[in-house]
Amino acid sequence: MVSRVLLLMLLSSITSVVWAEGLYLQTLKNTQLTDEQVQETKKLLDEYKKITLRGELEVPPFHKRGKVDDSLGNSFCTTCHLTPPHTKSLRTRTFMNMHTQYVACETCHFRPEGVALSYQWQDTRDASLVIAQPDLFRQTVKPVKQIPGLLAKNVAPVKEARIINPFVKITPFYQGKSVGLRKNAAFAEETKNIWLQEGISPEKIQRRALIHAPLSEKGPKCQACHTDEDALLNLTELGASDYQANKIENNIVTQFFSRYKDEEQRIRIQSLLK
Ligand code: HEC
Ligand code: HEC
Ligand code: HEC
Repeated sequence: MVSRVLLLMLLSSITSVVWAEGLYLQTLKNTQLTDEQVQETKKLLDEYKKITLRGELEVPPFHKRGKVDDSLGNSFCTTCHLTPPHTKSLRTRTFMNMHTQYVACETCHFRPEGVALSYQWQDTRDASLVIAQPDLFRQTVKPVKQIPGLLAKNVAPVKEARIINPFVKITPFYQGKSVGLRKNAAFAEETKNIWLQEGISPEKIQRRALIHAPLSEKGPKCQACHTDEDALLNLTELGASDYQANKIENNIVTQFFSRYKDEEQRIRIQSLLK
């Protein structure tokens, strides 16, 4: 009797380890698509097909893509999305593509309401946690004052570009488990096979609609992270020194971006000087 209970407990603990799913996949499994969502996706895929069939016209010279970014290869999202993924917003795409070097897609695009997520550095190659430390940030550590006559050991020259491992990214966690889906997960493999089917099948439409149902179409505003008040990311928990956190919070480029009131507005350099 006792042994049976033990066995059951053992079995259920094993299966909960094997089957423990990230919050994103759990959410997909609990998602009921509305007709509207399906119709929207159908429309989108019809449009999308037209665009991709236009061949060369699709890529005018100013849309030339940079080098394919290998560090994004383990993300479920790049099953379909190109790397780098952002192309549409002329104003922000360069910045957002730059951020994909150190921020996972889900951090910006999966932010379900009323759910307390935490953020940690993850090595996207094997999904291991990386211990928070200042060296993970590109933002240099506080420059040490050079005292004439004294040779500071191990102090990199301030202007030296920091080479950082792009496979390590800030990733959302829920109850200690990474939220995102890995590319080698069964659901991801299945999605890939559906995506490779020819034409725009109902299955394809369903799957595309499902995957995006819990995602935000747009990422957060710059100020969501570049602020010292109620920021999305806790930079100190991520290992940033006070100096680094301050630099990231008060980033001059993002202050410039906050002046844009709408998508079309252009800001003259002059008006920034007023
Ligand atoms: C099965 C293929 C597929 C997968 C996997 C996929 N996407 Fe998409 N996604 C598309 C297509 C197709 C579009 C529409 C064309 C476009 O905007 O590039 C799209 C559009 C988007 C958009 C634009 C807004 C919208 O809803 O139209 C965002 C944002 C996005 N995807 C994010 C993601 C993220 C983040 C992931 C991973 C969690 C992901 N996608 C995974 C196929 C996919
Ligand atoms: C730092 C936040 C951030 C990260 C990380 C991020 N995105 Fe985005 N994404 C945005 C914002 C903001 C937009 C709205 C359009 C814009 O500003 O470029 C957007 C728009 C998009 C769009 C639709 C518009 C377009 O430019 O094609 C797609 C598709 C997309 N993201 C996919 C992805 C994928 C895939 C990843 C991961 C490889 C990713 N994003 C990572 C912030 C982010
Ligand atoms: C999800 C949070 C998040 C959002 C949203 C975000 N950033 Fe950042 N950004 C960061 C983090 C974290 C860093 C620090 C990276 C580092 O030091 O390694 C950073 C760094 C930067 C840097 C400095 C890059 C460097 O190498 O010195 C610039 C510039 C920047 N962001 C601009 C923007 C702009 C512009 C937007 C909005 C269009 C934006 N960011 C939105 C998190 C974010």
